[in-house]
Amino acid sequence: MARIIAGLATSHVPAIGAAMDLGRTEEPYWKPLFDGYEAARKWLADVAPDVVILVYNDHGTAFSLEVIPTYAIGVAREFPPADEGWGPRPVPVVKGHPRLAWHLAESLILDEFDLTIVNEMDVDHGLTVPLSVTCGQPEAWPFPVVPLSVNVIQYPPPTGKRCFDLGRAIRKAVAEYDDDLRVVIFGTGGMSHQLHGERAGVINSKFDRRFLDDMTRNQRRLIDMPHIEYVREAGAEGIELVMWLIMLGALDEGITEVYRHYHVPASNTATGLIIFENDAERAALAKAS
Ligand code: DHB
Ligand code: FE
Repeated sequence: MARIIAGLATSHVPAIGAAMDLGRTEEPYWKPLFDGYEAARKWLADVAPDVVILVYNDHGTAFSLEVIPTYAIGVAREFPPADEGWGPRPVPVVKGHPRLAWHLAESLILDEFDLTIVNEMDVDHGLTVPLSVTCGQPEAWPFPVVPLSVNVIQYPPPTGKRCFDLGRAIRKAVAEYDDDLRVVIFGTGGMSHQLHGERAGVINSKFDRRFLDDMTRNQRRLIDMPHIEYVREAGAEGIELVMWLIMLGALDEGITEVYRHYHVPASNTATGLIIFENDAERAALAKAS
């Protein structure tokens, strides 16, 4: 049986990927941000998941305003890095896990979450930057990825509650998978930022820090938070944070925060990274050692 052992949430700012691709991570602007990623990379390398379910959003790259799936799951063997206007990022092709992806599609749709099934798509910074942040610059990504895309671009995005409930359904689906896989789930996007209009540049660290705290202390507040509160407090693009609730919903009731990194600014945003382990997994590991 497969099991979700841990969850990780991280920002996906395109400039972070560009700083890595262009070898600028040691520059004074970037160094404090990248220093905070070291512990997360070590953690992920130690955990060495068999597969990652990566919840992310496409930014008008694979999907345009002609087609806007609220949720879409990638079932392909591989997903090439997208050309977002400057050529594709020089990062490895993302290998999929078609068997787990099809199992998830079947289980989630029969559980009444109507996902769009995607046989072919390029993946933009929303997916590749979280991989770069957590894996560095390997020749090949160290695990296959099941991409799960969420519409947070065109109003209306799904509610936080719907996202959390989808996470719960993912948890059930993984537990029913017939192969012994250790799965880590990523929630990506955020934290506070707004890229356009009169409020461009909004950053609300108080909101962000409370959001990080309440992922363990008060999940109910986050699940019930209306869209308008994200937009008012965290800026229009702060709505990307609803994707973190899918990751949270896929974890057990008992979780432990094992790492956190928060840094302002990176490009136009406040950046966050947080890692949770399921307590059951921690107990099993402690018993084994
Ligand atoms: C920026 C942040 C994003 O989340 C994004 O998708 C695009 C740009 C930025 O801060 O520049
Ligand atoms: Fe974004």
